[in-house]
Amino acid sequence: MSVETRVSRLSVTQFRARKGKDKLVCLTAYTAPVARLLDDAVDLLLVGDSLAMVIYGFDSTLPVTLDMMIAHGAAVVRATRRALVAVDLPFGSYQESPEQAFRAAARVMAETGCAAVKLEGGEEMAETVAFLTRRGIPVMGHVGLTPQSVNTLGGYRSRGHGEAESAKILADGVAIAEAGAFALVVEGVAESVGRELTARVAAPTIGIGASAACDGQILVTDDMLGLFAEFTPKFVKRYRELGAEIGAAARDYAEEVRSGRFPAPEHTYAARRR
Ligand code: KIV
Repeated sequence: MSVETRVSRLSVTQFRARKGKDKLVCLTAYTAPVARLLDDAVDLLLVGDSLAMVIYGFDSTLPVTLDMMIAHGAAVVRATRRALVAVDLPFGSYQESPEQAFRAAARVMAETGCAAVKLEGGEEMAETVAFLTRRGIPVMGHVGLTPQSVNTLGGYRSRGHGEAESAKILADGVAIAEAGAFALVVEGVAESVGRELTARVAAPTIGIGASAACDGQILVTDDMLGLFAEFTPKFVKRYRELGAEIGAAARDYAEEVRSGRFPAPEHTYAARRR
């Protein structure tokens, strides 16, 4: 393949430079076959720690390990050619110190081949974001509703409704952007907060329940495909009902096996003469 025809991935600097120009399209991906299907449609694929709930059936994101994130991150990178791939740092792998975060992020980058890591938190994580970016690790921030803090936030309710809470989320977002994050996921906040944060920071804001004012949007792929039906947050739009399709396909298969219609002759090997 010549240099001219080689397909190259969107880089972190190209992603960041699109703020204010065109909307950035992001989805989660956890496995190679799904990542391959999404690659052409999106700018960024996030290997989110939401895989704890979506793939592994845990009831929060907290039980995910670094090894799990690395295995899924490497599969998504292998299966894609275009999208920027970012991988979540899981709970407990980075909050202790910038040095701990560097060790975790360096393993993720080296062992998956991804272009960036994402971590949750506001002002308290700014020093860590600066430490990582100064050492060659692009960081995506995540503020507002931060699922790894579900136990201190008291649940998954949307945030930024009162004056104090809005001011805190704005301060968090500004601190992480000024520390060097190349983009900011803003989750589950009032529209006014999503709008104001987008206006205040130089990094693109990627909303998930943070309004159309954000520079881009992200959804959990399984939510928008109707594959994860345990609960559907207000901010999710279901673009397809693949969960219902899978159930119907399984019932058709069961019926054909039980009635003897599957396998048919075209699915059967005739004996070959040797
Ligand atoms: O883990 C995840 O999937 C995320 C998105 C919801 C942004 O952090």
